[in-house]
Amino acid sequence: TNGSWRHTNIIFSSSGLVHVKNPHLDAMEEDILYHLDLGTKTHNLPAMFGDIKFVCVGGSPNRMRAFAQFMHRELGLAGDGEELADICAGTDRYAMYRVGPVLSISHGMGIPSISIMLHELIKLLHHAKCRDVTIIRIGTSGGLGIEPGSVVITDTALDSSFKPRFEQVVLGDVVVRSTELDKALAEELLSCSTETPDFPTLIGHTMCTYDFYEGQGRLDGALCSFSSEKKLEYLRRAYDAGVRNIEMESTAFAALCGLCGLRAAVVCVTLLDRLEGDQIRAPRALLGEFQRRPQRLIAAFIRKRLGVQ
Ligand code: URA
Repeated sequence: TNGSWRHTNIIFSSSGLVHVKNPHLDAMEEDILYHLDLGTKTHNLPAMFGDIKFVCVGGSPNRMRAFAQFMHRELGLAGDGEELADICAGTDRYAMYRVGPVLSISHGMGIPSISIMLHELIKLLHHAKCRDVTIIRIGTSGGLGIEPGSVVITDTALDSSFKPRFEQVVLGDVVVRSTELDKALAEELLSCSTETPDFPTLIGHTMCTYDFYEGQGRLDGALCSFSSEKKLEYLRRAYDAGVRNIEMESTAFAALCGLCGLRAAVVCVTLLDRLEGDQIRAPRALLGEFQRRPQRLIAAFIRKRLGVQ
């Protein structure tokens, strides 16, 4: 096969520092992280964030606040965590909470939104001189041929042609980046699923699309130009290529984090089985319980890493 884009971009330095691959940054007197409402002159980033070891990102601001409160309890920290302050309160683009060595940040929906957040987050970790950071996206997704409520740990993020690549247009040219994730981290996360025996957890490929409706082969959008048969043929081809869930951020997340030397994982719960339908029909209470599943797995992982009983 022609595998010219199948290069690996995962490089870990012995220092454990985050790499920013931008020669212009050094020449800047000040760096304003606009969408986070933080900056190198207005904030002491090493003091605020220098000891962060785990960064968890997810689409919704409320869910990432709930995750921070949950981690607060799981780490046995003083207080009930209800008073946690949004570090990015000056902007309503993203929300950020800190609990011990854990940072919890929202990224909105889709590749453009997560990619803007990640540029600023990665620079934040760089300016703060953080070392040995593990970053995990905890999200929701549509499942393929697996029980709704299952949690999928991504080994490789694929684009909508089932290729492990992320294409970014730079100055009018398409730049192709690899979307490999850290396999050892995925296995380590899977081993933590013994702590969450009430739901299935598996490792699989994740397909990342630019849209929730037509882009994911749904028949129920405002536009649809294909038949039910064509839809099922596409989703079955995805399943045969190893895809077990579909979401909208993993390729950009894997590419950016991989290039910047962050150990990265994607852990998403599936809200439905796309081979069975398009609409998300589960009651809100059940969906709420589903969304807490990746959080519980990650809490078990962080507690194990920190040696918290
Ligand atoms: N998120 C997605 O991107 N797709 C789904 O089907 C469900 C959640």
